[in-house]
Amino acid sequence: MSVSRRRFMGGVAAAVGYLGVGPQADLFAQQGRTAGGAAARPTMDDWDAYAHLSSNENCWGPPESVMKAMNSAWKYSNRYGYPDGNLVGEIAKHHGVKQENVLLGAGSGEILDVVGTAFLLDGKKVLGVEPTYSSVYQHATSIKTSAIKLPLTKDYRQDMNAFIKTANARASEIGLVYLCNPNNPTGVVVTKEEVKQLLDGVPKGMPVLIDEAYHHFVDDPRYATSLPYVLEGRPVIIARTFSKIAALAGMRLGYAVAPAEIIQKMRPYSVGSINALVKWGGVASLKDTASQADVKRKTMELRKKTSSDLMAYGYDVIPSETNFFMVHIGREIQPVIEEFRQKKVMVGRPFPPMTTHMRVSVGTAEEMDRFTKAFKEIFPPKTRTTAAGG
Ligand SMILES: Cc1ncc(COP(=O)(O)O)c(C=O)c1O
Repeated sequence: MSVSRRRFMGGVAAAVGYLGVGPQADLFAQQGRTAGGAAARPTMDDWDAYAHLSSNENCWGPPESVMKAMNSAWKYSNRYGYPDGNLVGEIAKHHGVKQENVLLGAGSGEILDVVGTAFLLDGKKVLGVEPTYSSVYQHATSIKTSAIKLPLTKDYRQDMNAFIKTANARASEIGLVYLCNPNNPTGVVVTKEEVKQLLDGVPKGMPVLIDEAYHHFVDDPRYATSLPYVLEGRPVIIARTFSKIAALAGMRLGYAVAPAEIIQKMRPYSVGSINALVKWGGVASLKDTASQADVKRKTMELRKKTSSDLMAYGYDVIPSETNFFMVHIGREIQPVIEEFRQKKVMVGRPFPPMTTHMRVSVGTAEEMDRFTKAFKEIFPPKTRTTAAGG
């Protein structure tokens, strides 16, 4: 084993050990950090050897238009106060809101933290489901409060009745409702009717954070963005990211859209350290809808193909509307992650209580072939018990 490989595996081992133990897993794993905050960074050779199917990224990278815009922004790298392409204005225009309704973050991860800090002061709790993207829960823990976690329904949906009942029964304890739509890790959407039911049913004035990180991948006509509720002036915060369909995860850009008074409440907690390159890249990305449509099409094709292969092999796949899916492996996931890793395929981490499911991100055709091959080496063929589709 080369020194670089040993160093990488050591970092991975530390991360794997860590990932097994806490709700912090989402945030740190998705951002490549270990528990102590140090980076578990692979070397370039090690990195290239792996199929990266564990963090729901866009495997194809930013399109030409975005690369060009970012490359033209290098000339600002030694400056403060440079022109930024009017990113906030462009986002506002894109959504038909005012600039006062937009707050930028270094990734939507920053937005989730900022919302958490702004609304969970004085020990207020966040209400949401489990499993979901647990970054807000982890942030709540770090600011010495906690989450009220509701189980998913048997068919992996978020239960609006349970949300409404709990939000009303425990209103004085709750500072924020978190709804990830579509949900990570299941890939299941909350329909527009359900969102309306939720917003009409929670106590008046209770802030609802709707995380639309995977919005662009959804095909289900029953789903819609919840942005119009911001225009209605409801206490709704929409979180969006350029890390997924826009392929800028490593560049760090996300934003919130919310009523102006909510943005004002959030703003003091935001760091706002967004670099010149990604600001220009973000502007170009908003305009390049053709490239995004292409990414969506390729993602859906590969997701459907891989899911069908797994189902034909006898394994249930939860129907997904995103660039990842969950397959029921019927075994504890933690050691399985290591088995895949030995075959140079990185797959998703444990999402308690769904620890016998594996989350798989959609990668390139070559990566998905490597995944399916590894899956068939690790798991025997089975006779499937339920009907499901990917
Ligand atoms: C649901 C969800 N929200 C937010 C994020 C944070 O992404 P970023 O900070 O890169 O914008 C992720 C990342 O995987 C996610 O899955």
